[in-house]
Amino acid sequence: MSLSRWAGKAALITGASSGIGLATARRLGQAGMKLALAARRAEPLDSLKNELTAAGTETIVVPTDLRRDESILAMFDAVREAWGGVDVLINNAGLGRNDTIAEGKTEDWREVLEVNVLALTVCIREALVDMAGKADAQIINISSVAAHRIPPGRNATFYGASKHAVRGITNGLRDELVQQGSPVKIGMISPGLVETGFHAAFYRDEQKGQEAYTRFKALEPVDIADAVVYMLSTPPHVQINDIILRPLAQPH
Ligand SMILES: NC(=O)c1ccc[n+]([C@@H]2O[C@H](COP(=O)([O-])OP(=O)(O)OC[C@H]3O[C@@H](n4cnc5c(N)ncnc54)[C@H](OP(=O)(O)O)[C@@H]3O)[C@@H](O)[C@H]2O)c1
Repeated sequence: MSLSRWAGKAALITGASSGIGLATARRLGQAGMKLALAARRAEPLDSLKNELTAAGTETIVVPTDLRRDESILAMFDAVREAWGGVDVLINNAGLGRNDTIAEGKTEDWREVLEVNVLALTVCIREALVDMAGKADAQIINISSVAAHRIPPGRNATFYGASKHAVRGITNGLRDELVQQGSPVKIGMISPGLVETGFHAAFYRDEQKGQEAYTRFKALEPVDIADAVVYMLSTPPHVQINDIILRPLAQPH
């Protein structure tokens, strides 16, 4: 798997402050890409930037609240100012909430929709502006197995619905790009259980979040980062639509 043609190109990674986004930043940094790291929390982004810079990666930190349109636009402005725009967008930031449709809160659903679906779509629109005229550019959405089947018994119906929307947007955009004769590639990655900060946020409880990873050996963030690398490593004429990967012991 070679990422040599992406060396020196710019990748924007949302949700780079932890988990899958952070692991992906390390992998793309090793490949010689320039990296824009976005999330709300500046402190973990700064510490990742220090690590990457020490390893020779050109990095900028863009503290961003994806629930705010103006914050997303400022994030793209920062990348345009630094490097003239993005070549690769890793739409990774996301969250779920432990609830049922009968008892969930409107405010929680709004947050899930705004981050997982709306911000992801605005980021795609802005990235397409930067990618216009480029011979080589790629968008990767970090989706979920929940994009394919609402997880049974997990109180994650609304989260799963948001990831179904990500799948719809990914596939619909692919059609739009093909119709336009665009060289921009669009794909998604659909992980099962990955050991990250996701479940602490899902349960709003650190301990319960940790317990989610005791049933079987979960995927590690780097497993998803490696799938990103594989997707990016394919030659320009090859388009991977989706990579579904689960822990060995995860049934669905
Ligand atoms: N972990 C799993 O089992 C699993 C499985 C399938 C799919 N996924 C997907 O993988 C992606 C990454 O999640 P993860 O597992 O790495 O979880 P994580 O460790 O909780 O990371 C989530 C990231 O999203 C960012 N984020 C959340 N709300 C944001 C907002 N309003 N503005 C900007 N950034 C925001 C967080 O940064 P800040 O808090 O600093 O803003 C954090 O960097 C998500 O899309 C998730 O749905 C995860």
